[in-house]
Amino acid sequence: MNFRSDNEAPINTTILNAIIKANQGFEESYGYDTYSDHFTAQCQQLFQCWCEVLPLVTGTAANSIGMTLACPPYGSILCHEQAHLNADECGAPEFFTGGAKLISMPGDHGKIDLDFLENYLSHTGAHGEHESLPSVISITQCTEAGTLYTLKELKQLNEIKQKYNLSLHMDGARFANAVVGLGCSAAEMTWQTGIDMLSFGATKNGAMMAEALIIFNPHLTKQIKRLRKRSGHLISKMRFVSSQLNAYVNNDLWLELAQHANLMAQKFFQATQSTITFVHPVEANEVFCQLPVKVIDKIREEGFKFHVWPGSNDIIRLVFSHATAEADVAKLTQSVLSQLN
Ligand SMILES: Cc1ncc(COP(=O)(O)O)c(C=O)c1O
Repeated sequence: MNFRSDNEAPINTTILNAIIKANQGFEESYGYDTYSDHFTAQCQQLFQCWCEVLPLVTGTAANSIGMTLACPPYGSILCHEQAHLNADECGAPEFFTGGAKLISMPGDHGKIDLDFLENYLSHTGAHGEHESLPSVISITQCTEAGTLYTLKELKQLNEIKQKYNLSLHMDGARFANAVVGLGCSAAEMTWQTGIDMLSFGATKNGAMMAEALIIFNPHLTKQIKRLRKRSGHLISKMRFVSSQLNAYVNNDLWLELAQHANLMAQKFFQATQSTITFVHPVEANEVFCQLPVKVIDKIREEGFKFHVWPGSNDIIRLVFSHATAEADVAKLTQSVLSQLN
């Protein structure tokens, strides 16, 4: 019973069948196939706007290419200290941008403290060319703590972005869980609140390996295809990436899968909230809770898989996915509660 990561979940069968269906005859290579064209059209419909779409196979590539578009080598990228970009990409954004500086920001529950950000920005510039030029704010939605920036917070970020003439990037590795969690539209969550670029994740929510960088700001699309090539992400048989993405958004499958994942997290939360301590609000499909070490050991012995959060020995992360069985959530709940009673 795996609550370790949505990356460990299987491929959704509709998506797998779409790959098999795409495996017929010949198609133009390197992204000039009909599946890739169709995905761009699907995104324009989904987001209700013009956008440039770049199918990719990892979120790290989406984030890094996005940073390269908006941040010069002498620029800086402002992100939360726990951001995947900062903590889990082994310097890829710095590498791809040719040396841009990542400035990590504090903030509760995985969200950048907006007062800190504004204060930081208001003090930049005093050292002239001796300091990196603030260029991009990157936020993660859902955050690494499983929480969500509200639409009001996104609007505040947009005001800061405009005041300091920056670009705004959203790492949406779990974008579907965020849209379901906030109950808003994909458009409201992104370009309508000033998001210039979105790393649109599908892998964690049912795809085999498919992500996309979606750019809403036409000023940021220059040489995007060359940047993808240089990153080693111009997949020759791109139709098998794009066919996954088409099936993912078709008939709102992406939302259906995320609804299930979020619901499973809520079921666990509702059943245990009066007994255990939750470290962060439960707003999507990731749950962080604090348990006595002996309880953690015991539930692990019973066959439940999860991560003990680095830097602690009594905080665990539980990830609920599109493939999490309700019966397994009930078993986990039962196991945790019986150890505590
Ligand atoms: C917040 C976030 N961003 C991006 C990624 C993308 O990572 P990868 O390069 O492994 O696809 C992940 C995956 O764990 C993530 O959690």
